[in-house]
Amino acid sequence: MSQMDKKSAAKARIATLTEQINYHNHLYYQEDRTEITDFEFDQLLEELIALETEYSEFLNEDSPSQRVGGTITKDFQTVEHRYRMLSLGNTYSEEELKSFDERVAKGLGHRDYTYFCELKFDGVAISLVYDNGKLAKAVTRGDGYKGDNVTENIKTIRNIPLTVKGENIPESFEVRGEIFLPRKEFDRLNEEIEERNKEIRIENEKHNRNRNELTPLANPRNAASGTVKMQDSSIVAKRRLNCYFYQLLGEELQVTEHDEAIHLLEKWGFNVSPTYQKCKDVNEVFRYIELWREKRFELPLETDGVVIKVNSYDQREELGFTAKIPRWAIAYKYQAESAETELLSITYQVGRTGAITPVAQLKPVSLAGTTVKRASLHNANEILRLDLHEGDFVFVEKGGEIIPKITGVSLERRRPNTNPISYITECPECGTELIRNEGEAKHYCPNVQTCPPQALGRIEHFTHKRAMDIDTMGTERIRALIEQHFIVSPADIYELPDKREQLLGLEVNNEQYTKSSEGYLFVSLKKALYALTKSISLLQMDQFLAEHEGLEQTELLEKFESYVRKNKKNIAYNVPVIWRLKDSLQNSSFDHIEDFLPVPVVLAVIFKKSPEDFRSICRKENTVHDIMLKYEGEIEPAHLDQINRIKGNTFQEGVVSNMFKGIEESKKQPFEKVLFALGIRNIGENTAQLLARNFKNIENLKSASAEELLEINGVGETLVTSLQAYFNDEENNRTIERLRAHGLQFEIQDKEQKLESRSLEGMKILASGKLNHFKRDEIIDVVQSHGGTYVKSVSKSLDFIIEGEDMGPSKKEKAEKLGVKLISEEEFLQMIS
Ligand code: IVH
Repeated sequence: MSQMDKKSAAKARIATLTEQINYHNHLYYQEDRTEITDFEFDQLLEELIALETEYSEFLNEDSPSQRVGGTITKDFQTVEHRYRMLSLGNTYSEEELKSFDERVAKGLGHRDYTYFCELKFDGVAISLVYDNGKLAKAVTRGDGYKGDNVTENIKTIRNIPLTVKGENIPESFEVRGEIFLPRKEFDRLNEEIEERNKEIRIENEKHNRNRNELTPLANPRNAASGTVKMQDSSIVAKRRLNCYFYQLLGEELQVTEHDEAIHLLEKWGFNVSPTYQKCKDVNEVFRYIELWREKRFELPLETDGVVIKVNSYDQREELGFTAKIPRWAIAYKYQAESAETELLSITYQVGRTGAITPVAQLKPVSLAGTTVKRASLHNANEILRLDLHEGDFVFVEKGGEIIPKITGVSLERRRPNTNPISYITECPECGTELIRNEGEAKHYCPNVQTCPPQALGRIEHFTHKRAMDIDTMGTERIRALIEQHFIVSPADIYELPDKREQLLGLEVNNEQYTKSSEGYLFVSLKKALYALTKSISLLQMDQFLAEHEGLEQTELLEKFESYVRKNKKNIAYNVPVIWRLKDSLQNSSFDHIEDFLPVPVVLAVIFKKSPEDFRSICRKENTVHDIMLKYEGEIEPAHLDQINRIKGNTFQEGVVSNMFKGIEESKKQPFEKVLFALGIRNIGENTAQLLARNFKNIENLKSASAEELLEINGVGETLVTSLQAYFNDEENNRTIERLRAHGLQFEIQDKEQKLESRSLEGMKILASGKLNHFKRDEIIDVVQSHGGTYVKSVSKSLDFIIEGEDMGPSKKEKAEKLGVKLISEEEFLQMIS
């Protein structure tokens, strides 16, 4: 090809690529869909950039390549706004909005005006100045008079026009709008952060270090405002910010009404949200407000109200401004984002690390389209900060994706002589006195060994596929065994086969229970009503509750009575039962937990006694089964039937035999797996393998000196400390002895010592996608048996990646970026054959 031909081919290709990229940008921003992957998109862009670099004469100032960023701004320059950036007055009620309308009518002296309604977008205000049709600068609102010049960052937003073409474009004009991070993008970024954190956790474990995890983004608005002010515009380019425009300003604009300006913006290629509407009077404005009250949650971004603007520019001028806000516009804020409700009680959750989280149980209230019944209180400081008292009325707020939170207390509605909430001092799960480490906000239960949720974490790790591989013991079964005192230590698992008889009929605690702050057992409303009544199936109960979601308990029981009557569900039996239940509830003083009933109350109805008769036996027990073992009264067959209906699933013959089989099988797991299963801090799979190979048995490991340990490549100080702490605890040594007595492997076997080959020695390898010759996880053992190290995330240090079928594009992209070689499964088989 001649030089000329090459040049014109490049020119044509640049045009095609530009068109394609613009098309995909349009799909993404305007139609909210994609036809190609991010990777393919980036490839088009890269090709374009390469061609434009080589043939700079064809570089168009509008080219999509101008949006990839790459500039670093240390300090943003301060720029004065030509027109002050004002804020808006807020209203929260129809009355206030009517008064606004009255003020407008009075100001103008007539009612001959129209309104223009837009949604109030929750993002960051931006002002763009165009000179001679070109984007000259983008400035944040700042203090309204001057803001930061963030042009380089704004240019990366792919649908912001860099140039505006057409007839009669004013020499200079300004557009204003709201930059936002679409909800979907916000979720994607947080997922990425979670992925990164997983990698950091794995890396920390592997290298015995303590690198901090990244903080997730709190909400889309903060994320947008943080992104606009980032120093590196290439990072901004990767976060897909978007912008809606709602204002046009300038001297030579040939428009006299706001709706004309909006249409002009649309014509010039600015992104305008299609949600606007011209309204002939305030009543139409009310209808617009109602229309969008719920519908706005379907929009791609967060909105918090409606902006109502007088449409005519002349009339706007007549009305003028007060000190800070225009008299011709107002924001109506949707109230439902925040609601007021009663604090019923506080429950406390114990996590697998022993951390305590208080949860506010609220009287159900409708908020932003859903019913809110609970709110997290984080820790004791939060309760103090809010100065929460028993029975307070609180304000709850919800920011779309986040769990509702309590933002304040209504002091006017506080009842006299109520006590401030006193934080629990004992663990609600095991009764141990809580501790709080200096400088930490959370309380902890120090009973690491026997506190049920903490034991659960440990036993789950022990039975995990990559550890002892007892897959016949799922989380629910383990939880049931722990809560019913069958296991605490991993060694107890191997003693289960001696307890076959006791295990049969044991309840598997299917989430139907919870506990109050005082430690009383509560059972789900669904199970309780099902057990107490006749002729109503669990499915029907489910339907009834779903249809009455959000009702307060007394109201719900009333509705339940109507339901029984209307559907003729054994009225003679069921209605008196509902009355008795309401009575018992009213006359007892248990906490109020939405969707749950206190077990003493339910038992009182069954046995026709007082809740007080059951109070003491229902404390600190985890299932109705346990409580009934303690009950000394008479149990008639009819009662027994009702009690059985409360219970969760029970352990049956098949389940138990299966579990025992898994337990027996696990005894064959090699030493390195057992070592990993013990859950010694900082000992991940690879470290366990390393230690097993080096020390051959647990005695050698236990007696190894710090020096001997540190000699091993891959062992650091943190690990030495962890090992010492573990072996210094006599309880741990006893566990090891018991496990050994049950036949677990605490010594490396001959066949483990012998590697299949050394063909992968010193290599770090990862497999991704579906492999044809190996089952999931099997590849890890194969890599190790040939002397290699299996690594779980893509990093530069990998020697290669075995590429399976359907390997994820993002992983592939990352590998290519880092220059890590990909090989096929066949090539790998050849390497080890
Ligand atoms: S018009 C003088 N329209 O709300 C009126 N503002 O509280 C200027 N906002 O700074 C603003 N959506 O950041 C207008 N459709 C909309 C809006 C909107 C969100 C923001 C904007 C402004 C703030 C005023």
